[in-house]
Amino acid sequence: MTEPGFAEVAALVRRRAGIVLTDDKSYLLETRLGPVLQRFGFANLRVLGEKLRAAPGEALERAVTEALTTHESSFFRDSRPFEHLRGLLPRLAAAKPPGERLRIWSAACSTGQEAYSIAMLAAEAFGAGAARSVEILGTDISGEIVARAREGVFSQFEVQRGLPIRALMTYFQQDGARWRVKPELRALVRFEERNLLADCGGLGRFDVIFCRNVLIYFDTPTKTRVLEMMARMLAGQGVLYLGAAETVVGLTSRLAPLPSERGVYAVAAQRAAA
Ligand SMILES: C[S@@+](CC[C@H](N)C(=O)[O-])C[C@H]1O[C@@H](n2cnc3c(N)ncnc32)[C@H](O)[C@@H]1O
Repeated sequence: MTEPGFAEVAALVRRRAGIVLTDDKSYLLETRLGPVLQRFGFANLRVLGEKLRAAPGEALERAVTEALTTHESSFFRDSRPFEHLRGLLPRLAAAKPPGERLRIWSAACSTGQEAYSIAMLAAEAFGAGAARSVEILGTDISGEIVARAREGVFSQFEVQRGLPIRALMTYFQQDGARWRVKPELRALVRFEERNLLADCGGLGRFDVIFCRNVLIYFDTPTKTRVLEMMARMLAGQGVLYLGAAETVVGLTSRLAPLPSERGVYAVAAQRAAA
């Protein structure tokens, strides 16, 4: 038995965000949607379900979707992709025509830890010239989360997850009980609200795309659509990093893994060059 309102909520998050809410996630509804019920004055999930079937309106649809997206993230998460990028950055930069910046996209960036981790690698690789060498874009479907990423302020708990103490001291300044990204690092990253279900081609082409720990929430056709869009958005020598539990296998032949590099992909015909 699923919760009352489950079918309506599941249909909504699938349509808006591509997120598949299976029956075994029914238990999530009560805890995640409690604040939404309160904010909109609904007595229970059944009332929410009825409202979603009738005339929900943009504000309610957005609030329900935001409540059911998982924003778990940490600095240098899974470390391996960042080690790989550290080695790749100088090579990618050397291949760029003079005056052109490397473009890096953190798609589904959550609260920004991934984008700021990339920025720290860029600062390390290019020093004071980082802003002339690289442009980092972080995007996420959630407006609230993008606002937090833009603010660049993290709790003690958040900086203790994955951030080496030397990096904390170099790139952050204490702000009361929290830590604020220093302006030089903040200047390397821009954040925008974007839904990966929409055509993101207008963002231009990227040398590096991080799309990690979001495909896992999508159904198979959505995974394929997003991966093929990213294949079109990768520059010639570009690479795509997926999360540890994600792959292109069985989803698209437009991307292929780099030899002996788990989780790193390039456009199929060009993988030998990367
Ligand atoms: C688990 S976090 C992953 C954050 C980061 N990439 C990482 O690996 O640490 C997943 C993020 O995907 C976002 N998301 C979910 N569906 C999305 C969609 N359709 N378009 C863009 N972002 C989406 C969520 O808002 C959430 O912040």
